[in-house]
Amino acid sequence: MNDIAPNLSKTAAGELDWAQVRASYPRQRPLLNLNNAAVSPPPLVVEQAVVDAYRFIGRNPDVNMWSGLDVKLPSIKRELAEIADCSADEIALNRNATEGLSVAIFGIPLSPGDRVVVSKWDYPSALGGWRQRQARENIELEVAEFGLLSSDDEVVEAYASAMQPSTRVLQLTHMIHWTGRVLPIGRLCALARERGIVTIVDGAQSFAQLPISVHALRCDFFVTSLHKWLGAPVGNGMLIVDRGRIPQTWPLLAPFDRVDSIDKFDHWNLGTYNSALQAGIEPAIRFHREIGVSNIHARLRALTRYWVERAADIPGFTVHTPLDAEMLGAVTLFTIDGVDSRHIECALRDSYAIHVKYRQVGDLKGLRVSPHIYQTESDLDRFVESLRAVVRDAYGV
Ligand SMILES: Cc1ncc(COP(=O)(O)O)c(C=O)c1O
Repeated sequence: MNDIAPNLSKTAAGELDWAQVRASYPRQRPLLNLNNAAVSPPPLVVEQAVVDAYRFIGRNPDVNMWSGLDVKLPSIKRELAEIADCSADEIALNRNATEGLSVAIFGIPLSPGDRVVVSKWDYPSALGGWRQRQARENIELEVAEFGLLSSDDEVVEAYASAMQPSTRVLQLTHMIHWTGRVLPIGRLCALARERGIVTIVDGAQSFAQLPISVHALRCDFFVTSLHKWLGAPVGNGMLIVDRGRIPQTWPLLAPFDRVDSIDKFDHWNLGTYNSALQAGIEPAIRFHREIGVSNIHARLRALTRYWVERAADIPGFTVHTPLDAEMLGAVTLFTIDGVDSRHIECALRDSYAIHVKYRQVGDLKGLRVSPHIYQTESDLDRFVESLRAVVRDAYGV
């Protein structure tokens, strides 16, 4: 096991040594990367596994890819099933959450007039998929209306009142990527189940960042990327389909074999693909497991509260994410009254070598900040002091 995951030690006080975690990742340069919610760097051990696997493929591709690397995929699925708390025979491996969303959205049989409930905060590719089905098949879209700072009860009420007898599908986002708001997903799935409505949970931001049990959620589809919070190489995603839902769901690509198991959604139906990328999943799982998802979540929540508290006295500073939420993670969105967020994004990058992400949804135009476990309080001190200087310059004081 040591060859694929470093043994992380604890400090004298029994705490995880975050400096050692940091040293296990590639150094980020030239920019301080505070947009990990988009894509995170893999730990060095993961990077090395992919390089080794790629070289291994080149020595005898047809044999080494299928018989040397892909034979490990069933055991990788078993390990992922432990993290997600589901069965390995409900897991398909694919390229990312976008692909999983499309498999679910285009795979559910629907008739003209059937209704699907979405929210304007869902990921654009999810909304785009449903709009395409609306245009091609005359299904109806209903929007659950709620604000990003609404209470959980208000959110549940918004979805409940958007449902009608002809509602067939609820499209849900666990952690909303615009601001990091976590929805009461268990309550929403239960509400749908009572009414026989199929649920798609987009867990791209929540999987491996927060403790999750897909088994307890009892959703029909759960989709995620593995390159954000698990630390797998870019190009890896996971789709979980409830066992009872598999036979009636159409795959996006024609399956190679005549199977009606979860295999019909796996990436090997894509034809020849880069197996070396999957060789990074197992070391990523081991690294993640060695720290533990509860420790990861607690650390990310603490880092978020750390920088927000220090930035709170910057004139005009407003956070659009509920900070007291138990499920708060690494992702937040902030604005500075009277200062264009795009200007702040550019000034932080050009003058201070710091990368945060401008996000616009509706009237909300802010900056998303998402640190990862390889970052420390000193990175966040540097960010906050740079932000303070940018705002001081912008206000001209
Ligand atoms: C909520 C959510 N869903 C889906 C995606 C798509 O992920 P990917 O680009 O890895 O397919 C993202 C990416 O940021 C996301 O935040």
